Amino acid sequence: MLPSQAPFPSTRFRRLRASPALRALVQETTLAPSDFIWPVFVRDGEGVVEPIASMPGVNRLSVDKVVEAAREAHALGIPAICLFPYTDPALKTADCAEAWNPQNLSNRATRAIKQAVPGIAVMTDVALDPYNIDGHDGFVEDGRVVNDRTVEALVRQALSQAEAGADIIGPSDMMDGRIGALRAGLEAEGFQNVTLLSYAAKYASAFYGPFRDAVGASGALKGDKKTYQMNPANSDEAMRLVERDLCEGADMIMVKPGMAYLDICRRAKEMFGAPTFAYQVSGEYAMLAGAAERGWLDGDRVMLESLMAFKRAGCDGILTYFAPAAARLLAS
Ligand code: PBG
Repeated sequence: MLPSQAPFPSTRFRRLRASPALRALVQETTLAPSDFIWPVFVRDGEGVVEPIASMPGVNRLSVDKVVEAAREAHALGIPAICLFPYTDPALKTADCAEAWNPQNLSNRATRAIKQAVPGIAVMTDVALDPYNIDGHDGFVEDGRVVNDRTVEALVRQALSQAEAGADIIGPSDMMDGRIGALRAGLEAEGFQNVTLLSYAAKYASAFYGPFRDAVGASGALKGDKKTYQMNPANSDEAMRLVERDLCEGADMIMVKPGMAYLDICRRAKEMFGAPTFAYQVSGEYAMLAGAAERGWLDGDRVMLESLMAFKRAGCDGILTYFAPAAARLLAS
């Protein structure tokens, strides 16, 4: 027992739990709308709100609807929205040229949001998978995902996103050397204030299943991503990746998935003290939202409890599909 704790009955922990006022006073961690980055799925068309079967409550939105979503998020106090394009299969090629097309879906959505809701930060995804006929985050040559040629393409992709007005660039590809190359490319082109939120510790996880449905990549993916995403068994390697990405110029780092990797979040925050984010990924969302839909869990309560857990583990913020629902609840 710690010397500061007198024995029972001098110390009764229940005293500080006896009323809402006392509980509020000694609460160690807080959750606020400003903790959230909201990932949204963008698709072609106008006025489109298309439900995603494996993610109850999440929709693919056309650009006009994404702008509405951004407006709503901003009003709720959510600081950032993160765009993931559902790309027309006809635009997927082996050279992934759509990834740096100034007129691609992600760039169009970025410009539309920055024009209509300049106060919200737009985060974009750097990786080739939405545009790759092989469904991989990098180029495939002779059945292998190649690193260095992919990094050059990622820089082109990121520059087109910065040009469109992205505030935060999120490389989710897990190639080696990409943070340094992206930082150098952004500096050289005058984008000194574009931030990099590195998916530093991204695991080869089965929890991404619903996301791949949402962006239409499940059918395209050949094989798995284990040669570039991390082995879920590893923790020291995650610390080395976080350190490497910070040294190469990442402003913020991310652990992904989140709920099954809270130990990694805690360790990264304690070791480096950098702005640390977790991604509560599609499968984690689906588990909670799916169970809530069936009445097996109290949806609102598990949502807030799961989000608070990230803050308690040391995260500065959370990418979560629950962002608007949680922000609404927190405001009420
Ligand atoms: C791919 C990417 C993935 C996610 C974000 N970016 C999936 C993958 O690596 O296959 C997953 C997000 C989620 O599951 O919510 N670059």
